[in-house]
Amino acid sequence: MTDARSRALDAPASRTSEREAFYNRIDGSNLAPLWEVLHTLVKREPRSAAMPALWRYDEIRPFILEAGALITAKEAERRVLVLENPGLRGRSRITNSLYAGLQLILPGEVAPAHRHTQSALRFIVEGSGAYTAVEGEKTIMRPGDFVITPSWAWHDHGNDSTEPMVWLDGLDIPIVEAFDAQFAEPLGADRQVLGRPVGDALARYGAGLLPVGYEKHAPTSPVFNYPYARTREALETMRRAEEWDPCHGLKMQYVNPVDGGPAMPTIGTFMQLLPKGFATRPCRSTDGMVFSVVEGHGTTSVTTPDGSELGLRWGPRDVFVVPSWCWARHATPDGDAVLFSFSDRPSQQKLGLWREMRGNAG
Ligand SMILES: [Fe+2]
Repeated sequence: MTDARSRALDAPASRTSEREAFYNRIDGSNLAPLWEVLHTLVKREPRSAAMPALWRYDEIRPFILEAGALITAKEAERRVLVLENPGLRGRSRITNSLYAGLQLILPGEVAPAHRHTQSALRFIVEGSGAYTAVEGEKTIMRPGDFVITPSWAWHDHGNDSTEPMVWLDGLDIPIVEAFDAQFAEPLGADRQVLGRPVGDALARYGAGLLPVGYEKHAPTSPVFNYPYARTREALETMRRAEEWDPCHGLKMQYVNPVDGGPAMPTIGTFMQLLPKGFATRPCRSTDGMVFSVVEGHGTTSVTTPDGSELGLRWGPRDVFVVPSWCWARHATPDGDAVLFSFSDRPSQQKLGLWREMRGNAG
C-alpha cells in the first residue's frame, strides 16, 4: 500500500516551506497538524518505551537496608525504592501503566494510616510477621502472601516482629494519573481503629462461602490477604493433573470470590508453577507483566517488537518485567519455579483492548 493514508501511519508527511509557514501561523492558536504526528499516536502495533529489565534481589537488598538507616518509615510516609523501568526513568513506573517499588519496614516501625484512590497490591518478599491494616482489619504478612489495599481504603503498616520486612508494592498510579482522578488524605494517626478480628475477611469471603444476603458493594475482592500457603497447596495439587499450558505452565489468576472476576479492578494478579525441565512456547500480550520470583531459578528470553533479544536469568526474590507486546519464553531446566506476576490486564479487558498472541515454535 502506498496511498497517502497508509504512509501517514508510518512516517510524518513531507515538509514544504508552505506547510511549515502554515504550522507556524496556527501554532499561536494552540493548533497543530495531526498528519505530522499521526504515526506516533496511532501505531500499527504496540511499541512500548518500557524495556525488559531485571532487579536481582541480592544486588539491591543492601540499598533497601541502607534506606532504612537513612530515613524512618514514618518520616518517609512510605519508605520505598521505586523500581523504575530503564526505558521510563524519572517517571516512577515499571511499565507505562503501573508503578512498582520495594518497601521496607523495620522492627518497631509504623507507616502511618492514609488512603488514596490508587489501588495497591503488596507481595511479600522477605520477612514474616509484620502487619497491614485495611479498613478496620489487620492481617499478618508472610512471604508469598498477596495483600490488597482497595481504592480509597484506609491502610497502615507496622512491624511488630524482630526482623526487617520487605514487600513488592504494585499500584495503578499511572492509570489514575491518566484520568486525573487522584485523591489522597492522611488519617492523622499512626494506626486506624480495628473493628474485626485477624483473619475475619478470609474466613468470611475466602472459604468458598459468602454470608447469606451478601451484596457486592465494591469492585475489589473483600478478601484482602491471599495466603501463599493456600496458593501453593492449590498449585501442588493441580500439578498432578499434568495439564500444562504451553505458554504459561500452570498459571492461575487471583479472583474476587463474589463475582469470579479479577481480585482488583485495574490490576490482574497471577501465580504460576513451571515444573523442572519445562520450556514454554513464546507468547506475548498487550499487558506488560511484572514478575516476582517466589521459588526456584530459571530464564526468561524476551524479544521486543523491533527484534532485539534479552535473556533474563532469575532466582528467588528477583523482580523482572516483560513489556507490552514483547515475546517471552520461560525455561526452568534446573528445578521447579513459582512466579507471582501482575499487569494491567483487567483494565485493558474492560476497555476491550487486551490481546494475546501465542507462538508455535519451541
Ligand atoms: Fe498507601
